[in-house]
Amino acid sequence: GGARALCACSRMRATRRGRLVVAVRCSKVAILGASGGIGQPLALLLKMNKNVTDLALYDIANTAGVAADLSHCNTGVKVTGYTGEEEIGGALAGAQLVVIPAGVPRKPGMTRDDLFSINAGIVKSLVEACSKHCPGAVLNIISNPVNSTVAIAAEVLKKAGVYDPKKLLGVTALDVVRANTFVAEAKGLDVKDVDVPVIGGHAGITILPLLSQVSPSVSFTSSEIEGLTTRIQNAGTEVVEAKAGAGSATLSMAYAAARMAESTLLGLKGESNVMECAFVESKVAEGLSYFASKVVLGPNGVADIPPLPALSPYEQQCLDKLIPELAKSEAKGVAFASA
Ligand code: NAI
Repeated sequence: GGARALCACSRMRATRRGRLVVAVRCSKVAILGASGGIGQPLALLLKMNKNVTDLALYDIANTAGVAADLSHCNTGVKVTGYTGEEEIGGALAGAQLVVIPAGVPRKPGMTRDDLFSINAGIVKSLVEACSKHCPGAVLNIISNPVNSTVAIAAEVLKKAGVYDPKKLLGVTALDVVRANTFVAEAKGLDVKDVDVPVIGGHAGITILPLLSQVSPSVSFTSSEIEGLTTRIQNAGTEVVEAKAGAGSATLSMAYAAARMAESTLLGLKGESNVMECAFVESKVAEGLSYFASKVVLGPNGVADIPPLPALSPYEQQCLDKLIPELAKSEAKGVAFASA
């Protein structure tokens, strides 16, 4: 891998033999959309993360207050706030990881694709800023519809000549978090031991939990499989309806995004065996450029995308159905970015 960008607070230090070494390697994380329902609790969780040294909060409004508030927590993470386009460069400079939850969330009755008209433009302009100010950073895209916004981000980065498929990840960790919770509840397992891979994408039937691959190994009846699969696919809508117009998942999303950020940073630091499900450029599913599956995170972002495990006939059927859906969302993102 190439040299990693050092953030502003890394210090060159001379050893006794006169060699220059980097004394501090910073982990600067920027959150774009930091004042929002996801952004704020995510910022709190990252303020508590030992692998983060600098946390830059960017939004079009209210960032100064969130940054001032968080900065009083007595943890080692340095928090700074940036507001409005003219300040985004400062937020992004030297960032190793940029997490993007900017954009509008769903209201009851909306699909994630209904957000496209507003969020596509937001993601496009934010990723343009990333291509300019932190071209080597890893991006975690949360803004919906993820099935399209990742394609938009990729096109923007390609146009700027800085696209590295290893460094662009759509965040689907919440689907795994939900699947783990629901499976543990249904089977009376300790949730901390449960891992359910979730593949495909992040909307409706494109969310495909692999209940045949749960760790620890469990068996389900076919009605349990259908019930759990549907619940995992509709879990976001469960929250949207319970919030009754006040937005979509924010706390569980922040939790999932913090886990994804942590894993991304551990990979960047060179830890081995770091794996998460994420929506990335992938050859796993024929005919699609992007697909969510378990990926290995390493020093340059995505280090490996293992092939899919053997699917059950039910899962294979679901996969066959979701592929055309994902293809449509991908094409919509590409068309938007090229227009
Ligand atoms: P929110 O409305 O509470 O917060 C969004 C924030 O983005 C606001 O503070 C707003 O000022 C900011 N923003 C808008 N335009 C911006 C721009 N151009 N630059 C910087 N900031 C900008 O919404 P919430 O609940 O935090 O959700 C954010 C996004 O995350 C939505 O698109 C939602 O659909 C998505 N989401 C994704 C999930 C996933 O699993 N990937 C799960 C839950 C939500």
